[in-house]
Amino acid sequence: MHFFSFKNDELHCEELSVRKIAAVTATPFYLYSQKTIVENFERIERAFQGIDHLICYALKANSNQTLLSLLAGLGAGADVVSRGELFLALKSGFDPQKIVYAGVGKRDDEIEYALAQNILVFNVESLEELAVMDGIARAMNQIAPVAIRVNPNIDIHGHPYISTGTAADKFGVELPAARAVIRQFKKYPNLQLVGLHSHIGSQITEIAPFVEAVQILKELAAAARASGHVLQFVDFGGGLGVSYQNVFEGDESEPAIDIAHLVDRLRSDLESLNCKIIFEPGRALVAEAGILVTRVLYQKDSHGKRFVIVDAGMNDLIRPSLYGAYHEIVPVCKRQDDLVNVDVVGPICESSDFLGRDRRLPELRRGDLLAIMTAGAYGLVLSSNYNARPRPAEMLVDGAQVRVIRPAGDLEKLWS
Ligand code: LLP
Repeated sequence: MHFFSFKNDELHCEELSVRKIAAVTATPFYLYSQKTIVENFERIERAFQGIDHLICYALKANSNQTLLSLLAGLGAGADVVSRGELFLALKSGFDPQKIVYAGVGKRDDEIEYALAQNILVFNVESLEELAVMDGIARAMNQIAPVAIRVNPNIDIHGHPYISTGTAADKFGVELPAARAVIRQFKKYPNLQLVGLHSHIGSQITEIAPFVEAVQILKELAAAARASGHVLQFVDFGGGLGVSYQNVFEGDESEPAIDIAHLVDRLRSDLESLNCKIIFEPGRALVAEAGILVTRVLYQKDSHGKRFVIVDAGMNDLIRPSLYGAYHEIVPVCKRQDDLVNVDVVGPICESSDFLGRDRRLPELRRGDLLAIMTAGAYGLVLSSNYNARPRPAEMLVDGAQVRVIRPAGDLEKLWS
């Protein structure tokens, strides 16, 4: 669901023409729709109605401060994975008691910082981390609230780089070790086991892996309670997939999971857990809310192929290069010209610098604008200054208003 649409053959973000925004904004730039984020959040909230729950937005998907404040204002919690993300979450107004902290490699100073902030819970990913955290909590004269992140060995049938819950992945504690440590928790006097966690991967487009994960969490919750632990919550991670293809109304949409469907399928299991349920979506809240707007610089026909060279590159949006990810690419102004087969590539000195390969686009001209759709999640956050390119600006549309929510990078700061 999103609020990008064509009106009079021109792409609009909510009520504004993208062409008009681009007329006064240097390309490339990210453009977000506020209404899309709000609606996505509310849709997820509605799906969980009747279940005691907390939606913790995974900051890693997009940590723009204005978007974080928007989500904090809507009542969202936060899922963070570093001192930096925790700092940004607190600065943006998230209630510390709604912040969960995961990550396989928390440094001692990060644990100390988070303990001092009184966050809801640490999602702990190894036995050694448990021991270290116990020591730090003791030194600080505190009891650290922890959840064990289990690795349930479930295949999400997606890209291996964004799977996190199989035997091949570094994340979480394997089940037998999790069961054992839950029984022997007394050896950590400064830790309190308050929850269980799993996150099996990202861009999940099937319901079955979630069902499987929740079964395993149920079994572990029973074991934890049998050992005398009082569980305050179970967190089944994020990972809800979105549609990257046929993103415009009327197109035949790719099957991505409907959150209401997913929660209804899980409802009885989640209710039987008898505690607060935490869900940590990142992509599902922001992906469809953002596009990357870029301009055609040059075109060339080479060895039988047409290259459209644009001013955005892999440093601005790395998902196509890194995961072979598909993002729909559309001309901002529709044309009736014949479609041609093209590769849309960036200016970076790497052959992996492409935004789309083998695309059918109308004949383009120098200066034409293209929109790379569904770029609101893992876009700007994964951007870099490679080839000494400043990062693109981020703009936010709210109805008929647009404003800069992060200016483009500054040449003078390329070294900082
Ligand atoms: N919780 C934890 C512990 C996570 O590691 C992640 C994502 C999430 C929640 C949110 O997952 P989401 O709902 O956004 O799928 N860069 C990749 C995605 C990496 C996801 C990493 N962890 C991409 O561009 O596809």
